[in-house]
Amino acid sequence: MVKIESFGKTKSGKKVFLYTLNNGKAEVSLTNIGAAVVSLKVPDKNSCLKDVVLGCDCALRYENGDKYLGATVGRCSNRIKNGIIFLNGKSFQLSQNEGDNQLHGGFEGFNKKLWDAEIIENGIKFTYISPDGEEGYPSMLKTEVSYILTGTTLEIHYKAISDGDTVCALTNHSYFNLDGVGNGDILSQYVQIFAEQFTTNDEHSLPTGEILSVKDTPMDFLTPKQLGADINSDYEQIKFAKGFDNNWVIKNYDGKSIITAAKAFSKHSGITLEVLTNLPGIQLYSGNFLDGAGIGKKGAEIKNRSAFCLECQYFPNAFANENFPQPVLKAGEVYDKTIIYKFGII
Ligand code: GAL
Repeated sequence: MVKIESFGKTKSGKKVFLYTLNNGKAEVSLTNIGAAVVSLKVPDKNSCLKDVVLGCDCALRYENGDKYLGATVGRCSNRIKNGIIFLNGKSFQLSQNEGDNQLHGGFEGFNKKLWDAEIIENGIKFTYISPDGEEGYPSMLKTEVSYILTGTTLEIHYKAISDGDTVCALTNHSYFNLDGVGNGDILSQYVQIFAEQFTTNDEHSLPTGEILSVKDTPMDFLTPKQLGADINSDYEQIKFAKGFDNNWVIKNYDGKSIITAAKAFSKHSGITLEVLTNLPGIQLYSGNFLDGAGIGKKGAEIKNRSAFCLECQYFPNAFANENFPQPVLKAGEVYDKTIIYKFGII
C-alpha cells in the first residue's frame, strides 16, 4: 500500500506529492521533486523505528535547497572541471554552477526537477525527460529511477536512454545518521569501504587523475573505522575538504555485478547499513558543508557533520582524466545501474 499526500507546491505552482511505503518492517517516503528519499525508517536494536536520512518538510525547501538531500543527482553527479566534457572528439561547454566548474548536473540538475511518478510493485518509479541542451548536455535523455522496498532493503534502479551520445552518471545523495537524524553527529559511527585505492583531489575538490593506495593513510577504511577517528587529520586531502570528501575505487568492480561497496554501523542504535552497487566509485562525504540551516524535518537545524553520504558514482571529473571510466551513454544504449541500501541490526 502506498500513501500519497500533498508535499506542497513548486515556485511555479505545480503540485508535489509525498509517497510513503510501509511494509511492516521499514518505511520509506519519497517525493517527485528531485525523485528524492525524504525519510527512511528502519528498526534499531530495540525494534524502535528510527528515521536515518536527512530530509525536509515540503517541496519548496528542495527547490530552494543546495544540499541535495536524498535526491537523484544528474545528468552527471559531482564535479566537472570548467564544465567541459568531450564526446566523440568534440567538446561541450556545460553550465558552471560552482565557480568555473559544474557540480551535480548544473543550476537546475535532476534534483530540482519535477518527475512523473508511477506506483509499481513494492515501490515507485519516477520518470524525467531531460531535453537536448539542458544545462549544456547534448541530446535528449529519458531517465527512470525506481525505488523498491523489500524488508529493510531499499533498492534503487536507474535506467536511461538517449537519442544521441551523451553523459549519464546518476547517483542518490542520501545523508545517513544511523542513530536517527537529530540525534547528534556521526563521529562515533563506523564506516567500512571496500576499496584499496582512492582518487586524490585538488583544493577545489576536483580529482587530478592520480589514484593512490589507501595503505598507511587516513583514507584506509578497509576495516571498520569511526568517522571521527581521522576527520580532523592534517592529511592534505582531509584538510582540503574539512573532513572526508573523496572518491574511493570500489574493489572487484566489473561493470555489471552488484557488489558491496561499503558498510556502516552505529554501536549505539545497533543499526547497520550495507551499500551495494555496480558503479565503479563511491564518495564518502562527511557533511562538511552542512551549516546548521534550519531546513530539516520539522524545521530542525541540519548541523555540520550530522550525517554522512556514501554516493555510488562514476569517478568525478572523469572527462579531464582519461584513466577514469568514462560516463558516456551512447545513442540507443541502455544505462542500467543499481544502488542498494540494506539495513540490519548488529
Ligand atoms: C557531495 C560532494 C561535496 C558537496 C556535496 C553537496 O557529493 O562530494 O563536495 O558538493 O555533495 O553539498
